[in-house]
Amino acid sequence: MANWLQVSSVSECPEGELRGVVAEGQHIVLANVEGTIYALRDQCSHEEYPLSDGELDGDEIVCVYHGARFNACTGARKTLPAVLPIKSFPIEVREGDIYVDVT
Ligand code: FES
Repeated sequence: MANWLQVSSVSECPEGELRGVVAEGQHIVLANVEGTIYALRDQCSHEEYPLSDGELDGDEIVCVYHGARFNACTGARKTLPAVLPIKSFPIEVREGDIYVDVT
């Protein structure tokens, strides 16, 4: 069963940037890729540091700690040293607010 939580407003998540939020104890990174917002677990699959400390390069999240890259839209791993993908969450925008299904 879906568990939609309001995590941010769209205005707090500018294009080309990452934003870390916490919802029901889950750390989530929001990524605004050319006006479309995606939500992934805010934990690098390499050594579990927050991805929200890194940056968005086009449609890729770059981990600031050791340089792994992930597709911001799907969570797919792109480069070493990470070998596993990042969990992605369904997202909806309702009247300017961002909701994430954290199930
Ligand atoms: S913790 Fe992200 S690349 Fe090492």
